Amino acid sequence: MSYRVRKCVFPVGGMGTRFLPATKAMPKEMLPIVDKPLIQYAVEEAIIAGIEHFIFVTGRGKTALEDHFDHAPDLERTLREHGKNMEIEAVTSWMPKSGQISYTRQQEPLGLGHAVWCARDLVNNEPFAVILPDDLILAKTSCIKQLINAYKEVGGNIVAVADVPREQTKRYGILDIMTDNGHLVRAKGLIEKPDPSKVPSTLSIIGRYILHPKVFAFLDKQIHGANNEIQLTDAIAKTIDSVPLYGLRFSGRRFDCGDKVGWLHANLAFAMNRIDMCEQMMEVLKEFK
Ligand code: UTP
Repeated sequence: MSYRVRKCVFPVGGMGTRFLPATKAMPKEMLPIVDKPLIQYAVEEAIIAGIEHFIFVTGRGKTALEDHFDHAPDLERTLREHGKNMEIEAVTSWMPKSGQISYTRQQEPLGLGHAVWCARDLVNNEPFAVILPDDLILAKTSCIKQLINAYKEVGGNIVAVADVPREQTKRYGILDIMTDNGHLVRAKGLIEKPDPSKVPSTLSIIGRYILHPKVFAFLDKQIHGANNEIQLTDAIAKTIDSVPLYGLRFSGRRFDCGDKVGWLHANLAFAMNRIDMCEQMMEVLKEFK
């Protein structure tokens, strides 16, 4: 088995019901943060981390995602004719090359574990990364790169983690901590969406993973867990005896862009982070004081 993390899975087959009607005919992962869709942030994060193959698990109504990672000949020709070189750069410079992206369809949105399982033959027998594009992370060092760096040191399964308020634990996979050096946590267990009164900790999984292909052996069983969905965390928990599980307290700021307020918050934070926009944004925000 190769120990280099070369492939990244992007599960983008979900329905995005929290964003209806915006997501009726448009994938949630195409929602923009300022002027760039969520999926592009996710792919750029993976490129910086040295990922060579990008695996999209899509579903019905998600073709806009494939188009976004392809050339748009009419648009590019028109931009060229008008000498708009910066705009040409903006629509092409970040695209992975032909053959570096694979698409597979999740025929029914049966849960995140099921979406990742759909990528099993494309991943094959090697460790792989998973990025959930709706968890957007503003960081100096790409979050998935931070996980890959930790993986090089300790191996195993590694998930990005952050503490959440106790009452929110029922929305996340929560770690049962064995050891904790303040940066890297070794877990002895993992529970998906626990009741806040029964949580072993408040350390929750954020949508970044480095996984051993052994998780596929459990996902093959297609067992439905919390919310009657096939959960990725159940597969990670079931392999914990043979593949140690670590949580990395990543450095960076995370925005839950699957949630309306989180998405608006991310738009504000990213706009304020841009020198071409922050002054104008400050003026706009004065209106709401
Ligand atoms: P969410 O849990 O946010 O689900 O998925 P969702 O369906 O997209 O959104 P809501 O809750 O209905 O508003 C987290 C990530 O996992 C993918 C989603 O596309 C998203 O990137 N996902 C989820 C799948 O690919 N397949 C699934 O069956 C479920």
